[in-house]
Amino acid sequence: MSQAMAEQERGTRRTGGRALPFITAEEAAAMIRHGDTVGFSGFTPAGAAKEIPTALAKRAKAEHAAGRPLQIGVVTGASTGQSLDGELALADAIAFRTPYQSNKDLRRLINEGKTRFFDMHLSTLPQHVRYGFLGKFAWAVVEACDITPEGEITLTTSVGASPTFCRCADKVLVELNEFHPAALHGIHDIYEQDLPPHRREVPIYRVSDRAGSPVVKVDPAKIAGVVRTNRPDESGAFDAPDEVTKKIGQNVAEFIANELRVGRIPKEFLPIQSGVGNIANAVLGAMGENPDIPPFEMFSEVIQDSVIGLMRSGKLKFASGTSLTVSGGLLKEIYDDLDFFKERIVLRPQEISNNPELVRRLGIISINTALEVDIFGNVNSTHVLGRDMMNGIGGSGDFTRNAYISIFTCPSLAKGGKISPIVPLCSHMDHSEHSVQVVITEQGVADLRAKTPHERARLIVERCAHPDFRPELHGYFDRVKCGQTPQTLSSAYALHQQFLKTGNMRGVDWSQSS
Ligand code: COA
Repeated sequence: MSQAMAEQERGTRRTGGRALPFITAEEAAAMIRHGDTVGFSGFTPAGAAKEIPTALAKRAKAEHAAGRPLQIGVVTGASTGQSLDGELALADAIAFRTPYQSNKDLRRLINEGKTRFFDMHLSTLPQHVRYGFLGKFAWAVVEACDITPEGEITLTTSVGASPTFCRCADKVLVELNEFHPAALHGIHDIYEQDLPPHRREVPIYRVSDRAGSPVVKVDPAKIAGVVRTNRPDESGAFDAPDEVTKKIGQNVAEFIANELRVGRIPKEFLPIQSGVGNIANAVLGAMGENPDIPPFEMFSEVIQDSVIGLMRSGKLKFASGTSLTVSGGLLKEIYDDLDFFKERIVLRPQEISNNPELVRRLGIISINTALEVDIFGNVNSTHVLGRDMMNGIGGSGDFTRNAYISIFTCPSLAKGGKISPIVPLCSHMDHSEHSVQVVITEQGVADLRAKTPHERARLIVERCAHPDFRPELHGYFDRVKCGQTPQTLSSAYALHQQFLKTGNMRGVDWSQSS
C-alpha cells in the first residue's frame, strides 16, 4: 500500500468503542530498536510477516549508512520468505536467527560466520520462548486476515509460534493482510501448553480433533500498531517429479502398502507425516496413485501442493499441519472453495502439529528427506560435508524420534553423480541409528528394524546405494570382521575427503587406508 493511502487510513478504525491503531509499515519499523528480539509470524513463506521486516531492512540500511548499528534477533516459526529473511539478511540486520531458515542470502551469512544461527527442533521453539531460554521478546510481528478491537487475531496461512510470540512479547504489531480472506476464521486451532510442572496431556486423540480457539487472544493494550497490506505469500512452486523422485515415491508407497498387507500397520491405517521439499511432494503424489494405500489422514507440519489434489480425489481425508504452503494458483483454488477445505484442514501451533506426545499416540508414519545417510542408519538432514548449514533440522526430529515407523528418503546420487548420499559415516548427525527405521532411495528399500549394524551396513549398500558406489562402500566395511559396528575411524570420511580433494567421491584407494 502506498504511503498516501496509509496516511488516509491513519488514526483508528472504531468498532464497539475500542480502537485499532492503524499505522504505516515505516512507523511500525521505527519502533523496533537495535538489539530487540522479534518473534515474526511465518512458517515457510506461508503467513510470514512481509511489510514490517521489509521496512525495517530499509531502515537498517539507512542506519548503517549513517554509521549507526541496527540489528535484531529474528525468531520465527521456521523458514520465511524473501521479504523477511531475504531483505533482513541483505541489509545485514540480523544479529541472531533461530530456529530454521532456507534463504540463500541468510544461509551464506550463516556459513561465513557473520550471522549467529542456532538450529532447533521446531516443536520445542515455543516452549523455549515461554521458559525464557531465548531471552526477552520486545516484539511479536504477526500477519492476520482479521483482528477485532478486543485483540482477537485470526492468523493467515500458518500458525507456527505466533500465539507464543504474542503472549510473551512486550508489544504486538499486526500486518492485516487483505489478500487472505477473513473467512479463514475457523481453520486454526490455537492451543498452548501449560508450563511444567502443571502441564497436562494435549487433549487431541484423533487427527481432526480440536483443542483450542480459532483466534489468538491478545491484550488490546499490547497492540502497538496495525499495518494494512495486500500481498500474497512468497511460496514457490515445486519441481515436477522426475524419474528419480517418482521412483522414490513409488518405493515408499509400495513399502507402506506391504506393511499394511502383512499386518504391521493396522487395517484402519495410520496418519502420515511428510517432510518438506521436492522429494516429499513426489512421495505424497505416489501414495495418492497407489491403489493399495487406502484413503488416509495426515498429521504433519507443512501442508504442501500435492495434498490439495489428494483431497479433491478423496484419497486424503483430513490434514493437520501448522502451515498451508501451497503455490499461488492452488491457494486461490482453496480460497475459492474454502468451505470444502475448512472441513478437511486444521492449522495448529507448531508445538502441537509436531508434538512428540501426539506423534506417538496417533502412531504417525513419518517420511523425511536426508542429505546423507550412513551405512548404519544415522542421518544428516542439515549439513553439507559436515560444515555448511543447508536449512536446519526443522520438524524431522520431532517426528522421527517418536514415529510408529520412521522413514528417510534421498536420491542415491547428488550433485550430478559426484556425491553418494550413502556414506560410511555421516559428516554430521541429526537422527541416530536408534530412531531411523527405514531408508529408501530410487534404488530400493532398506528396512533396518531388528537388524544389527553389520546387517544394516550390507542392506543399505545393496538396496539403497547407487551401483557405481557399491564397491566403494563394500570396500569400506568388508575388511572389518569384529566389533559391534564395522567402523574404521581412519577411513570413515574417505569419500568426503576424496570429494574435497578432487570434486568427486569416486576413486577412493582403500589400500591407502588402514
Ligand atoms: N552432499 C552435498 N549436497 C547435497 C547432498 C549431499 N549428500 N545431498 C543433496 N545435496 C544438495 C543437492 O544437490 C541440492 O543442491 P542444489 O540446491 O545446489 O541443487 C540441495 O542439497 C537440496 O537437495 P534436493 O534434492 O533439492 O532436496 P530437497 O528439496 O528434497 O530437500 C533437504 C532436502 C534435506 C535439504 C530438506 O528436506 C530439509 O531441509 N530437511 C530438513 C528439515 C526437514 O526434514 N523438515 C521436515 C520436517 S516436517
